[in-house]
Amino acid sequence: QTKVGKTSLIMSLVSEEFPDVVPYKVEEITIPADVTPERVPTHIVDYSGSDTQDHVICIVYSVNNKKVPLILVGNKSDLVEHSCMDTILPIMNKYIEIETCVECSAKSLKNISELFYYAQKAVLHPTGPLYCLDQKE
Ligand code: GTP
Repeated sequence: QTKVGKTSLIMSLVSEEFPDVVPYKVEEITIPADVTPERVPTHIVDYSGSDTQDHVICIVYSVNNKKVPLILVGNKSDLVEHSCMDTILPIMNKYIEIETCVECSAKSLKNISELFYYAQKAVLHPTGPLYCLDQKE
């Protein structure tokens, strides 16, 4: 989605500071293994919704193979007083591919490192089934 704060989240993670001025996209970066909680190098690729205006985004997966774990990230939590988890939980229950969800704020630096930790964990130790349950032999 556009303008949700993707670039700001990456910049807040890297500089531990909310950027007043945010470029439309940041360069690809690799966080070295020794500073990540799971001790694996983490490559972060930004993308700008502005690149894809009037286009369609296709998420392609192989139905008989490993599913890509998804994380729902609710950014800008500084703008609301209450959590939106009540709305999110039914969605999580419906889609087993969703590993976890997290509310965070690039601005108040809330849950930023946690978000990237959950992303690493979702890849390294996924809890969902890796193969389609009704896969034919
Ligand atoms: P695109 O590149 O257009 O897809 O946007 P993006 O998802 O990378 O969002 P970006 O980081 O450019 O942020 C969009 C706007 O939201 C900017 O004005 C940010 O300052 C603001 N913003 C980002 N994160 C937060 C946040 O946690 N809280 C608040 N209040 N504003 C935020």
